[in-house]
Amino acid sequence: MKGHSPYVLELKAVSRTYDLGGGRTLRALDDVSCRVEAGRSIAVVGRSGSGKSTLLHLAAGIDLPNTGSVHLHGRDISQLSDSERTRLRRTEVGLVFQFFHLLPGLSVQDNVSLPGWIAGRSQLQSRALELLETVGLSDRAGQSVEKLSGGEMQRVAICRALLAGPRLLLADEPTGNLDDENADLVMNLLLDLTRREGSTLIYVTHSDEMAALADEVWHLHSGRLDIASPATDPRPASGA
Ligand SMILES: Nc1ncnc2c1ncn2[C@@H]1O[C@H](COP(=O)(O)OP(=O)(O)OP(=O)(O)O)[C@@H](O)[C@H]1O
Ligand SMILES: [Mg+2]
Repeated sequence: MKGHSPYVLELKAVSRTYDLGGGRTLRALDDVSCRVEAGRSIAVVGRSGSGKSTLLHLAAGIDLPNTGSVHLHGRDISQLSDSERTRLRRTEVGLVFQFFHLLPGLSVQDNVSLPGWIAGRSQLQSRALELLETVGLSDRAGQSVEKLSGGEMQRVAICRALLAGPRLLLADEPTGNLDDENADLVMNLLLDLTRREGSTLIYVTHSDEMAALADEVWHLHSGRLDIASPATDPRPASGA
């Protein structure tokens, strides 16, 4: 099952339905096929309830499709055991959310290095500090996270998501809870950092301005996916 695929992520005819009871089903994703090459950035847009978060959850292996298949680096994740899927998710996928999901009571640095503790890798403390440096927060490393502003919290959450060096970073409305100035800052950091790390970024946004920064824009309409061709030439995966 260990295919050699040029795609970081591939969805083949994926549908995700929910049983609403009384014989009614809701089709959150409807026959979605798409694929992403390494180093690309993708913006996912669409109205509330169109299936954006569902798409990210499937890409992360947090959720599984009813029909069709999801492939991470050529591996069909529905063919993996729970523990294999968890391991793949920890090492290959980073997640960023709208409400940051930081742990209060822990320092900035400990929040970033937390996934490393879980994985039993204490050497990730220095990597945590390096990442904080790149987002301009190394001087706050020892402070408790609840002292930070929203924009600063999201920068910490981005560092945490990148700690393990994931090849795929998924961000669900990463700037949805920030003012315009912080939204710009965070979005640009997210794009710069993922490019620098050579990672692929898929982010959900309600902002046309934020969507325009991506190499590609995916539109969801009631669970159906339209892929817009990029307005400009795709950016190279890295500056090298
Ligand atoms: N566990 C569930 N049970 C039933 N319906 C669900 C479940 N999870 C999601 N849905 C439905 O699936 C559809 C898609 O949900 P999803 O969260 O993907 O939308 P979204 O595009 O992320 O919306 P938003 O912009 O509001 O975050 C919605 O109609 C939602 O109500
Ligand atoms: Mg959502």
